[in-house]
Amino acid sequence: MVKVRRRGLPLVTAALLAACRSDSAGIVTPPVTPPAQNPDTIPLRSLAALRGLRVGAAIDRGFRFIGAEGTQFRATFTREFSMLTPENDMKHDRIHPARATYRFEASDSLVAFAQANGMLVRGHTLVWHQQLARWLTSTTWTTAEASTLLTQHVADIVSHFRGKLSAWDVVNEPLADNGALRAGFWLDNVGASYIELAFRAARAADPDVALYINDYNIEGLSPKSDSMYALVQRLVARRVPITGVGFESHYVVGGLPTRNDLATNLARYGALGLKVQITELDIRLRLPSTAEQLQTQAQNYRDVFGVCLQSPACNAVVTWGVTDRESWVPSTFPGWGDALLFDTSFVPKPAFRSVYALLAGR
Ligand code: G3I
Repeated sequence: MVKVRRRGLPLVTAALLAACRSDSAGIVTPPVTPPAQNPDTIPLRSLAALRGLRVGAAIDRGFRFIGAEGTQFRATFTREFSMLTPENDMKHDRIHPARATYRFEASDSLVAFAQANGMLVRGHTLVWHQQLARWLTSTTWTTAEASTLLTQHVADIVSHFRGKLSAWDVVNEPLADNGALRAGFWLDNVGASYIELAFRAARAADPDVALYINDYNIEGLSPKSDSMYALVQRLVARRVPITGVGFESHYVVGGLPTRNDLATNLARYGALGLKVQITELDIRLRLPSTAEQLQTQAQNYRDVFGVCLQSPACNAVVTWGVTDRESWVPSTFPGWGDALLFDTSFVPKPAFRSVYALLAGR
């Protein structure tokens, strides 16, 4: 039997790849395999599995596409990806709309969909300064009350999904752009200990799920990324149950950290015994896109996947959406878009091709 090395792929032949239906991590090629838009025989997720990597996507608006659009979206997603992050359905205001009310329907159905299609799920997100329900933010609480509300929220939600998720973004975006702890409901009402409280409550509710701290502009080397590293070092020193760090990775084309900085930053978390996942990758450009921009974007995607592949600490890359049709970018940055691997017609872009070639050892 031919052995496939986990990372330094010894030129995997098409014949070998064609023979692979599942990998050691249990990624099963999904049943929905229309020849569709990717003419290559092997789905991206299967190629990635051979390298010990999960390739994921955030899901929200794409699952509201109906008719042929919906069918094509789901076929593309299930064929190429092996990890699902609910883009919005697990956020506080959606999942906990009143103090005594949890709404799990939407996220339960995403989790069931992922399970049915051999995907892992990253839970997103338990403690964040945004998208908090009004019942929480419109009342004044004592420190003790706010602490109890935080631990209760985390405990209830993590317990609900216990055994079903591979990871949680426990604390999301705790740092301001200058690297200080970001002001917001939890810091203001609980104090700096809210981070530690959240991780301990999550671990108590699920002994196995991986627990991440997640933020943006911490991927390269910068004052903010040093602050994140220092924060994580402190958590590790205090034996807070943290598994790893999520590098959001929302980029502008051509504006990424250097490969070297990204690799150096990844390595220092690896040296702490932690994992890193690329959790929200997208690379936006100014519309309308040009062939040149799309080529730069393709190289940028290849660089991010390449650095992750070469780092033993990095085991997943999640893009923030599947196609340019449902990405959050155009509504938030008018005039910008085309940030993902598939275009608005579900056609794989140069970025997809370059990531595919990388994972195929080309
Ligand atoms: O679903 C409602 C819809 O019913 C309503 O008609 C419409 C009117 O505004 O709003 C819809 O909800 C919007 C939701 O996206 C779904 O489209 C919210 O208003 C909007 O605020 C929300 O934005 C999300 C944003 O986080 C804030 O939660 C984006 O989709 C989502 O991509 C973005 O994701 C964040 C990560 O969680 C954390 N890191 C940064 C990343 C990008 O900002």
